[in-house]
Amino acid sequence: MHKFIATLLAMVTAATAGTLQAQEPAVLLPGDSHAIYHVAPDASLLLLPVEEREDNACVKVLDTNQQLIKTFNVRLAVDKTDYFVPLYLDKDAALLDITFNGNRRNNGPIKDYACWKEMKTATTFDDTNVEYYRPAVHHTPRYGWMNDPNGMFYKDGVYHLYFQYNPYGSQWENMTWGHSTSTDLMHWTPQPLAIEPDALGTIFSGSCVVDHNNAAGFGNDAVLAFYTSAAANQVQCMAVSRDNGATFEKFDKNPILTAPIPDFRDPKVIYHEATGRWILVMASGQEMRFYSSSDLKQWTYESSFGTTYGCHDGVWECPDLMCLPVRGTGDKRWVLLCNINPGGPFGGSATQYFVGNFDGHRFTCDDAPQVTKWMDYGKDHYATVTFNNAPSDRHIALAWMSNWQYANQVPTHQFRSTNSLPRDLDLYRSDDGGLWLGVTPSPEIAAARGKAVKNIAQAGDAYELVIDIDKPLATIEFTNANREKVILTCDAVNRTFSFDRNEAGVSDFSDAFAAVTTAPLHAPVKQLRVFVDRCSMEVFDNEGRLSMTNLVFPTAPYSTLKTQGVKRVTVFPLR
Ligand code: FRU
Repeated sequence: MHKFIATLLAMVTAATAGTLQAQEPAVLLPGDSHAIYHVAPDASLLLLPVEEREDNACVKVLDTNQQLIKTFNVRLAVDKTDYFVPLYLDKDAALLDITFNGNRRNNGPIKDYACWKEMKTATTFDDTNVEYYRPAVHHTPRYGWMNDPNGMFYKDGVYHLYFQYNPYGSQWENMTWGHSTSTDLMHWTPQPLAIEPDALGTIFSGSCVVDHNNAAGFGNDAVLAFYTSAAANQVQCMAVSRDNGATFEKFDKNPILTAPIPDFRDPKVIYHEATGRWILVMASGQEMRFYSSSDLKQWTYESSFGTTYGCHDGVWECPDLMCLPVRGTGDKRWVLLCNINPGGPFGGSATQYFVGNFDGHRFTCDDAPQVTKWMDYGKDHYATVTFNNAPSDRHIALAWMSNWQYANQVPTHQFRSTNSLPRDLDLYRSDDGGLWLGVTPSPEIAAARGKAVKNIAQAGDAYELVIDIDKPLATIEFTNANREKVILTCDAVNRTFSFDRNEAGVSDFSDAFAAVTTAPLHAPVKQLRVFVDRCSMEVFDNEGRLSMTNLVFPTAPYSTLKTQGVKRVTVFPLR
């Protein structure tokens, strides 16, 4: 039925049935928790009012023939609108069939819900920043929720970052692969949605590879995405892009990998030179499973690693596997990244890793099973994975800068969550013979430095501090006009570095936020690099032997620095 006739009919019906009279287009209310909203005939965009504390409503978008176009969940406003999200409509979208789930809405009849007054058609969606805490140089979605970085690859001078995304609200839901691109890893351009949910499920985390030699038969240099479709089960699927990652077509023989395991997800695919095959590593309950393939479509189980190794105080997620050089030697060792939630050293989410060997079939760990190694000692470093096909054999990692303990509650609305700055990975040996992951701020960050300024009050929203330490005990205290503060302590005697954010600013959104995070030091620190960007601080030693990533929500920018045991502080604005 043409949209216009449908709307007319709805309005006529509205005059006689239990519907809202004043609205145009009409809303039919067949039940206490069910609404049918007629889309205006020429509408291409509808603004949906969201109220975050409400439960989800399930929205089915139907065409003029009442066939399902798509379905998603959104917390439609009942009392008041927190913000709007855009629903872009297909040409033949005619109806929204809306079911209100849950029981939060005992505050009046459905006809009085705020959403009916507030929902409106528009021609554009304004995503101009309105968030005080939006970082200046870190990647964030323009609007909506983001968690894990996904499918990162580099090709023809462009870094592609996909991410777990909810286009219909700033809390976790409707997992879709969002997409942004960058040529310098510092400034990101938003791109259209890359992979949207389908009848097999929502689109969970995964990876991409550039298929240079056409192993899969989709053409040289096709980009293949591997992801988890999450519905009743978690199954692994593939999608193909023939336009450098701009759009993806799902593989018609999906799923490509299934197993009767509840937590079976987050496929990471790499090419294994020595055996000339592709390897897929994925989280599978309390272990990582390895599969091999020569055509990227048929996967053979090789082995599993980990049930007795490292930390198991949470779910194993988002693996990565890479062969890294050991500094100052010609050696290489394999590293298996394993994100775990909860169970992190300071509660909630964190990234552990294992150093060892991978022979194309099996991963063996150099350390004893009871050893746990953490990649970053902050509270806001999770789902860390690296870019495929990065130039000069680099292994560049990005983390999701949040923690499942409070990610859905942090004090932003327009968007939620940011990525870490990029870090280059390698291995280094400590004096006691241990082999550790080196995490060094990527050179692109230094390239974004402006001219040094006198102090942090002059540095703008985002800046880097280079701090030369000359005493065994050094402290650096950031304070603002509201007496909020962050204290960093570098203690060479006890070989620890700590970050106190107990009084850093807003923290009442979660009991788990206020914290002191402490890292062991494997070597004395001579110089620290601290990156501050509105709501985050990332601390490294300049030799990449310490990494600590923490969010902070000061109500005014930190404007004063008090230091002890410090020789010099250089302040670079980041642009
Ligand atoms: C990690 C994770 C993944 C999963 C995704 C869903 O944060 O739980 O294991 O694929 O998030 O959004």
